[in-house]
Amino acid sequence: MDIWEYWDTHSRIFINEDRLSSLEYVPLRLPHRDNQLNRLAEIFRPVIKKPGKVSQKVVFIGRIGTGKTVTAKFFGKKLEKYLHRKGILFKYIHINCHKDRSLYPISQKIALEIGLKIPLRGYSYYDIFHLIFRTLSNENIFILVTLDEIDYLSKRKGENNIYFLSRINDEFLEEDLSRINFIFISRNPSFFEKLENSIKSYLMHNKIDFPPYTSTEIIDILQERIIVEKAMRKKAVSDEILELIGDLTGYEKGGPGDARLAIEILWKAGIRAERKGRSFIEIEDVREVYSTISPIRIEDIKNLDRHEKMILIATINALKNSKTRYVSTREVIERYNILCESYNLKPRKRTKIWEYIKILEKMGILNTKISSKGIRGKTTHISIDKISLERLKKNLEL
Ligand SMILES: Nc1ncnc2c1ncn2[C@@H]1O[C@H](COP(=O)(O)OP(=O)(O)OP(=O)(O)O)[C@@H](O)[C@H]1O
Ligand SMILES: [Mg+2]
Repeated sequence: MDIWEYWDTHSRIFINEDRLSSLEYVPLRLPHRDNQLNRLAEIFRPVIKKPGKVSQKVVFIGRIGTGKTVTAKFFGKKLEKYLHRKGILFKYIHINCHKDRSLYPISQKIALEIGLKIPLRGYSYYDIFHLIFRTLSNENIFILVTLDEIDYLSKRKGENNIYFLSRINDEFLEEDLSRINFIFISRNPSFFEKLENSIKSYLMHNKIDFPPYTSTEIIDILQERIIVEKAMRKKAVSDEILELIGDLTGYEKGGPGDARLAIEILWKAGIRAERKGRSFIEIEDVREVYSTISPIRIEDIKNLDRHEKMILIATINALKNSKTRYVSTREVIERYNILCESYNLKPRKRTKIWEYIKILEKMGILNTKISSKGIRGKTTHISIDKISLERLKKNLEL
């Protein structure tokens, strides 16, 4: 048997797993980043109309996993393609300053990308930029350079690298054309605040914000990855699973609004389901994956009151039985009463039980949701999302 073929065809969960696992992957579309892309299109319109007449510098600001890197790459690709069609030589270059922390490796990387072969030693970054501009000019090339995670760019004494880069077209002006455009990316809004006034006001004019994603936005992004990008089999992921990941990561739900985290949870839950020999992801897969990054402390669980532990055990048993994300409080209380009996304990009254549930909710161990669908009107449902049932149960010795 061909092992590659086996890997390619025998997954019951994944179709193109790398579209979830690869950090480099740029998807076909970027849901909920239309505003940012439209703004980029607007800013770069003059560059498209008359390449070289102006060049642009743009700043992206946003928290972790809000799509800054992927939007820059996505836009760079589009720009390249559009200009190539018009017969203009244009290149997009993405540089991560976490890796290349000073102007020397940055200049080398740009040189390499435009096909300039230079010896490793003997040139300063200033010389290299000079050679870069000469090549751009001789071969009539325009470039867009993204400096990602620019916070890592070193600030040498008496020299401001960003200042140097911002003025680079003037510094090496050849035949009146501005050939280098920039996107600067940072998570930290105050990074640009600290710059000198003259650059700051210029850069802030072209600032694009990347707000954290809401739960519904995250669900759209995941759905797109599964269905349009064919990362996973459609049947492997239910709406309930997507909603759960949306609730765990969505910004308005107290999560980070981080699409990377959401994609990672989906991917790892898929791996777990596959390992268990299933063709679909279960709620428990997501709980288990999330447990490893969950803020819930095991110590806190061990120190719970006896009755709080009993309520949790009752909830775990009900959830295991139903295999759904939520169970009704009525069922939990019934199970709790039986559990108390078997331990010869007097069950607490309803109001007290509610108090315990609220405390457990505050600790983030369980969640409640009021649903009005029931025949008897409003009922409250309980879920445990942030820790796997197995892991929780292990720490609930009475
Ligand atoms: N709108 C979107 N549509 C599709 N995928 C997205 C979207 N936003 C983010 N992603 C995906 O989420 C992951 C994180 O995005 P990205 O790397 O661009 O975040 P970032 O803002 O650069 O985060 P960091 O500050 O940590 O570098 C990537 O896998 C990316 O493909
Ligand atoms: Mg990034």
